[in-house]
Amino acid sequence: MKYLIAGSSGQLAKAFIARFEQGGIAFDAPPEIAFDITDRESVKQVVSTCKPDILLNCAAYNAVDAAEENSLPAFRINAEAVATLSNVAAKHGATLVHYGTDYVFDGSSERLYREEDATAPINAYGESKLAGEKAALEGDAESLLLRVSWVYGDGNQNFFHKMLKWAEGREVLKVVWDQISVPTYTEDIVTHTLAALEQGLRGCYHLTNTGYATRYEVARHFFKLMGNRTTVIPLGSEAFSCPAPRPFFSAMSNKKLSAALETSIPTWEDAVERFAARLREAH
Ligand SMILES: NC(=O)c1ccc[n+]([C@@H]2O[C@H](COP(=O)([O-])OP(=O)(O)OC[C@H]3O[C@@H](n4cnc5c(N)ncnc54)[C@H](OP(=O)(O)O)[C@@H]3O)[C@@H](O)[C@H]2O)c1
Repeated sequence: MKYLIAGSSGQLAKAFIARFEQGGIAFDAPPEIAFDITDRESVKQVVSTCKPDILLNCAAYNAVDAAEENSLPAFRINAEAVATLSNVAAKHGATLVHYGTDYVFDGSSERLYREEDATAPINAYGESKLAGEKAALEGDAESLLLRVSWVYGDGNQNFFHKMLKWAEGREVLKVVWDQISVPTYTEDIVTHTLAALEQGLRGCYHLTNTGYATRYEVARHFFKLMGNRTTVIPLGSEAFSCPAPRPFFSAMSNKKLSAALETSIPTWEDAVERFAARLREAH
């Protein structure tokens, strides 16, 4: 089994690369300059050279607020490029693994979102990711679509790194209480993506850690684990006046995937504990 990773400098890609290196698994992960998923010729050349069995699309445009002001790059990277990847993968008999988001839901549900629930994104980023899901599921290649949420791991672009940075030199940090979802650790995404591929799963599944929380609760839990004394106080989203609205409750159920894999996916608290322990060791 050979893997090809798109978006090799992102946080999920880094977790796949580390796991493949540890396990001696064959993979290619060209830098974005050599593997730009919006460039059909680049995609054709890389795929025909690498000849992967599995094309892992870890590339994405995740700037939620910037997408609200100009949605073109989001649609090019999150949607149009996915159709290209699917088309080229199919020509080489490769399976496409693509990642979706909880932001395809409007956040008005009173229970965890399931795979069959109606999608209705409330921001441009969510719309671009929904178009990308369709491109993956209805494209030419066999595909596995895994919806993830609040992804974090190695890298500086996630919620936890931002929290630590914003807390520097501050006694009090305000964090939103009215956004509820599931922080999901790249390590657990890698583990369960590989298990899903081993089982031959195709179609759409939710891959999140188990449980759900407000951003405020997640920040408090994390700071406690890190021994950070900054006081975290809850505030409504309106206080931050971000260009893109966020869903209120977009937490997804991972039951369909857990049942298919006959496993239980670790809770978000457990995952944050492992992540915080790694950060503490590194410092
Ligand atoms: N992060 C989250 O909270 C979150 C939430 C829900 C779903 N997801 C989904 O989970 C998946 C993995 O996300 P992640 O957090 O690992 O994202 P990430 O850290 O932002 O990584 C995405 C990578 O894709 C690269 N990229 C952008 N345009 C590209 C192009 N045209 N060709 C090749 N690479 C390109 C980016 O490079 P540059 O940095 O140079 O642009 C970046 O290194 C994505 O599908 C994402 O939409 C993420």
